[in-house]
Amino acid sequence: MIGALPTAASLYERVRRVIPPIEWPAFADDIDAILALKRQRNAVILAHNYQTPEIFHCVADIVGDSLALARKAMSVDADVIVLAGVHFMAETAKLLNPDKTVLIPDLAAGCSLADSITAEDVRLMRQRYPGVPVITYVNTSAAVKAESDICCTSGNALAVVKSLGVPRVIMLPDEYLAKNIAAQTKVEIIAWKGRCEVHERFTAADIRELREAHPGVTVLAHPECPPEVVTVADFAGSTAAMSDYVGRHKPARVVLMTECSMSDNVAVEHPEVEFVRPCNLCPHMKRITLANIRTALEETRHIVTIDPRVAERARWAVERMLFV
Ligand code: 13P
Ligand code: SF4
Repeated sequence: MIGALPTAASLYERVRRVIPPIEWPAFADDIDAILALKRQRNAVILAHNYQTPEIFHCVADIVGDSLALARKAMSVDADVIVLAGVHFMAETAKLLNPDKTVLIPDLAAGCSLADSITAEDVRLMRQRYPGVPVITYVNTSAAVKAESDICCTSGNALAVVKSLGVPRVIMLPDEYLAKNIAAQTKVEIIAWKGRCEVHERFTAADIRELREAHPGVTVLAHPECPPEVVTVADFAGSTAAMSDYVGRHKPARVVLMTECSMSDNVAVEHPEVEFVRPCNLCPHMKRITLANIRTALEETRHIVTIDPRVAERARWAVERMLFV
């Protein structure tokens, strides 16, 4: 039996701590429409941890970090997947669901890391370091993944490096992730020069100032931050790992050195924790809105397609990662 749909009014309770009542009427109509459209279209919405709370908590079916979204994408039982996140995440969902319609609400939702490297760059790295395996961060195009031996995310990068059992690997394209992982292993890591435009802006001086202004604050950092930031943080991990840390340790005060919506989304679950809020917005993640999710479902756009010759090799690299 099909149950009654929740209504926007009933969902507001969840997010009232992070969305002021005055803003809610602007969201309610789209939320009700999206909930109905999902049922009509047999669609599910996968949302990354950086999506705004009205998306993350009110219309998403599956939420998480890049690794969780990839894992859960493998078992989606729906005709249509809407990826509320950036383009490489939608491509990963398509790689794992070649027979489903995968939609991204805004095609321009990119990523500075994905833009920092091409398939030709990877081929040149292979020529320069013959026989050295290539680990590609999921924040890359399918064409780049297709040139690699295995993918990784910030949640499993160290495990992926160890799984290869070799003394030297190439890890592309995030220079800082590669350096932060290199600090935890004896395996030599050859890096690329890509940076996340959001995380590269955090500095160790920011953390010193935060600790002075907010005594006792626990500092969590994403591994895309510069090594000087990760070194002085209390913990570094993927977006899911940061969220789990807050759930397990329940610090009285915490600051997440990452994208702004993370704090809002985690704060909804932990009203007892004080979130200190200097953060940086990801302009690509913020391209996804309730309005364009609604249009995506109404008009079946934008359909994510991948050249089948590229897809086959890229899928192999992603699936290999999921078995580590
Ligand atoms: P996570 O895999 O930790 O969710 O990170 C994805 C991302 O784009 C971080 O900037
Ligand atoms: Fe890419 Fe950085 Fe935005 Fe993540 S936060 S999607 S790595 S630009």
